Amino acid sequence: MKTMLLTNIKTLYGTRTGNTALVKGAEMKKVPFLNNAYLLIEGETIKHFGPMSEIPERADILIDCSERLVMPAWCDSHTHIVFASGREHEYILRLSGASYEDIARNGGGILNSAMKLQQTDEDALFDSASQRLHEIISTGTGALEIKSGYGLTLDSELKMLRVIRRLKESGPALIKATFLGAHAIPAAYKQDREAYVNLLIHNMLPRVAGEGLADYCDVFCDTGFFTIDETNRILDAAASLGLKPKIHANELANSGGVQAGISRNAVSVDHLEQIGDAEIDALLQSSTIPTVLPFCSFFLNIPFAPARRMIDAGLGLAIASDYNPGSSPSGNIPLLLSMACNHMRLLPGEAFNGATLNGACAMELEPLVGSITPGKLANLLISKPIPSLDYMVYAFGASHIDKVVLGGQLVY
Ligand code: NIG
Ligand code: FE
Repeated sequence: MKTMLLTNIKTLYGTRTGNTALVKGAEMKKVPFLNNAYLLIEGETIKHFGPMSEIPERADILIDCSERLVMPAWCDSHTHIVFASGREHEYILRLSGASYEDIARNGGGILNSAMKLQQTDEDALFDSASQRLHEIISTGTGALEIKSGYGLTLDSELKMLRVIRRLKESGPALIKATFLGAHAIPAAYKQDREAYVNLLIHNMLPRVAGEGLADYCDVFCDTGFFTIDETNRILDAAASLGLKPKIHANELANSGGVQAGISRNAVSVDHLEQIGDAEIDALLQSSTIPTVLPFCSFFLNIPFAPARRMIDAGLGLAIASDYNPGSSPSGNIPLLLSMACNHMRLLPGEAFNGATLNGACAMELEPLVGSITPGKLANLLISKPIPSLDYMVYAFGASHIDKVVLGGQLVY
């Protein structure tokens, strides 16, 4: 098997031998590291790492990492990167005073994306999504979750999920697929939402599960979108077909989405801009992972999730990009970390753990990625010459990443 040796690493971050479960509360700010290190990759996995004084004698490929940092590639547990085109005109409407909800009520927003996606063929969708995927790989993302939800008809949802499957198969990133047919009520069902919920439960979900196209089922459980009762019914139907929930909750209102997700054992509940003590307490009693999406708050000008309070209460958070055309047209994780620190008052280490190991946990991929651990996939990034992780987060907006290695291959 081919070996690759990274030498003279200034600091190797995220080194974990032993336990690599979700990090919570006060543990979140701790990032294990090793200075002046080497890292040996064998085939697609991390073989071992250690101080330069114990460097192995030889390897097929040598990469000198003098003055550079090495860390796990980002694990982005919430994206919607399959879409037909941007919605920059809605951005202009919002800048001119319209709200996200106003635009959605008038047939824009998700319905606008659905209309465009329905008219776009699978190959074109694959090409544009693949471009986005390579764009975010170049900023260090190595594993991600991708949702459907801009199809909203059986055929178009299947089309989206097939594109996600092709992205999975085309590599080099590790991908989980989520069925989000319950993203919005399509215009044709406005007068009969029950018919759409039935279509989701009796028609779409069985096809999606039958073709093995999704790992998870999501519902946009919020005011103006899906009710608690509808959410529960959809998640129960999905669970009976083997799809676990990961849901959009409490973005627009404190409407019970977090509790609904917990009651159905969701892997994660995502957004959480509108939560209070009751939701934090409920999350503390559960194994559902709270996931915050700072880009969405920044871009829609809505409150940020109370991430500081959540961590201080003892929770372990994942931090994800939510890359999508409406509320977060970016998947740049280094910028996301800076935003999480500035706007949510997190420390760089907390943001780092949120977008690496905890992000992996929110996709149930922690046995494979999220830390520098012997036996895990060699998914990692090599920085340009910079002093530290703190510096990377502090000096926001610059491109600090020089190389990306996924599955042991230099991909960028
Ligand atoms: O996570 N909140 C729901 N869904 C996406 C946005 C969808 C859109 O506006 O296209 C989100 O923010
Ligand atoms: Fe989302």
